[in-house]
Amino acid sequence: MSLKTNIVKINFGIVCVFPDIIDALKFGIIGKAIDNKHININTYDIKSFTSSRKDRIDDKPYGGGPGMIIRYEPLRDAILAAKEKLGNDSLVIYLSPQGRLFEQTMVNKLSSNYTNIILICGRYEGIDARIIENFVDIELSIGNYVLSGGEFAALVIIDSVSRQLDGVLGNKASAISDSLYDKLLEYPQYTRPAIIDNHKVPSTLLSGDHKSIDKWRTQKSLEITKDKRPELLQKNNLDT
Ligand code: ADE
Repeated sequence: MSLKTNIVKINFGIVCVFPDIIDALKFGIIGKAIDNKHININTYDIKSFTSSRKDRIDDKPYGGGPGMIIRYEPLRDAILAAKEKLGNDSLVIYLSPQGRLFEQTMVNKLSSNYTNIILICGRYEGIDARIIENFVDIELSIGNYVLSGGEFAALVIIDSVSRQLDGVLGNKASAISDSLYDKLLEYPQYTRPAIIDNHKVPSTLLSGDHKSIDKWRTQKSLEITKDKRPELLQKNNLDT
């Protein structure tokens, strides 16, 4: 009997101040992906890379100004520890509101091209800029708003990228429909009962005629995209 071996497809190293936040990934589909070794997650707490417990990880910015900056040394040492585990050629991403906007095309790119990804999560007013110059391959933002720290952005990136890996979603079609999300939005879905509060499931979906169902769904996808995200149709040269 041959045993199916599960291989880790992506190793994530998270360099951050609050590693407990990353524990939120243990639930649901991503929790299962960890258990089944599709992904592997190691956290590196910047606080444990100071030379003494009194030593702070943050300091005042040169030139003055509000807030504190994460110091170069403990952050560098945390990144080097992550690189030692994941490899020197790991992709290093810094999460910040100044980064390139993280969208589905980037999700697809990360999930199909990288095996070792290090995510650096900032806090306070930011990190010493020399870390970006010396270690960071790409700076990403998950949206045009400011979070209190990069840990929540790391959760978003790990969740969306892991869903794309073979075997993580029970149904391969679900991963494919995620990957097309920036082209056409999903058609509406219904489940039992067929009538509730005077609202009926569209009759085509009850017909059993799969050709008509496919046609209906394509038409609805186009209509919904035109209504909610018309710029996607323009971007992808589609029409209703
Ligand atoms: N850290 C703070 N705000 C952020 C954002 N919008 N995206 C990624 N990391 C962040």
